[in-house]
Amino acid sequence: MDYDIANIGLAKKGKLRIEWAARNMPVLQIIRDRFSKEKPLKSTCISCCLHVTTETANLMITLKQGGAKVNLCASNPLSTQDDVAASLVKNHKIPVFAINGENNSTYYQHINKVLDVHPHITMDDGADLVSAIHQKRKDLVKDILGGTEETTTGVIRLKSLEQKELLLFPIIAINNAQTKCFFDNRYGTGQSTVDGIIRATNILFAGANVVICGYGWCGRGVAMRARGMGARVIVTETDSLKALEAIMDGYEVMPIKEAAPKGNVFITLTGDTKVISEEHFKLMKDGAIVANGGHFNVELDLDALEKISVKKRIVREFVEEYTIKNGPRINILCQGRLVNLAAAEGHPACVMDMSFANQALSAEFIVQKSQTLKKKVYPVPEKIDKQIAKLKLKSMGVEIDNLTSEQKKYLVSWEAGT
Ligand code: ADE
Repeated sequence: MDYDIANIGLAKKGKLRIEWAARNMPVLQIIRDRFSKEKPLKSTCISCCLHVTTETANLMITLKQGGAKVNLCASNPLSTQDDVAASLVKNHKIPVFAINGENNSTYYQHINKVLDVHPHITMDDGADLVSAIHQKRKDLVKDILGGTEETTTGVIRLKSLEQKELLLFPIIAINNAQTKCFFDNRYGTGQSTVDGIIRATNILFAGANVVICGYGWCGRGVAMRARGMGARVIVTETDSLKALEAIMDGYEVMPIKEAAPKGNVFITLTGDTKVISEEHFKLMKDGAIVANGGHFNVELDLDALEKISVKKRIVREFVEEYTIKNGPRINILCQGRLVNLAAAEGHPACVMDMSFANQALSAEFIVQKSQTLKKKVYPVPEKIDKQIAKLKLKSMGVEIDNLTSEQKKYLVSWEAGT
């Protein structure tokens, strides 16, 4: 079996940690049990480009139990948990191509490795697999039934392909399922981003001025958690509605330029490029901490920061201090890579349970419905989304009320008024 990982000797530790995550992934476990019996993915080749974490390992094991042949590479050079990669190879015989800290060239070599198997399904987090296929490996398209996309940034890229009528196979936008974005993006990113910043710096959030750039689901989650820890939170936005929502949620809202001299900690979660740029870095307080929680490392203009800096040094693991000429020292976390996965362990298993249940059931859906799917970006079918919510509640031992037949009838009527 072909693979490329850091150290197979780490498998024992990885196995224990994968099992630990499984305890908080009951919905995926139910799917895994059914997949083992029914084998709905029999002989389906699935190439995955995901963060190589304990939660992803549980998804890989589920797909394999469903009969799929899975291959995995990393969706970020700094997010791979090397012990997990080792356990997947050694204990589960799943080919993994991912090494924490790999350079750009190895990152793309690994993407090509998982594509070499001629997948029937692609499973992306950030759309790098689909992008590579569309730019360099169009020969693979004839075998592909469809793909899935895990994250906001990836869905934006894929919708752009669709709008330009360039998309070559159907995609299911996992990110947009309600059981995904309401929980993973909000509570997962909220907790894991704060966790990453604290592990990297050991700072106290209480009393700190924390600037959150972007008030989508992820920004909302991080703002909520930072405030809960006693920080004074400032939100920056470009969308009027989201800015209004942030105000009514009780945060200060202002342009980044105004927030720059006020903040102690800056966190970007926008999905866009150069959100914090040269002019902002120059205005910051000495010792400001800057982290990115968005998928790609483009949100901070680090090239500009490098140009205006006279000194750069690593001051502790995950923290690089730039000294701007006649200006402040700025601490950049994890080279601007997503801080929750690079300095911490990503979202907790409890929320990834629902995200990856969507992945597993959408892969099954693609196999069942590929004949009817067009070259479009589709939402996760509502039936799947609702089923996951029900299973999750059941796993928590929570019961809810049912509508009476009178109530159901009332909801579809129009005659009765005051
Ligand atoms: N994205 C964010 N957190 C993650 C995790 N724990 N595993 C896989 N992908 C993630």
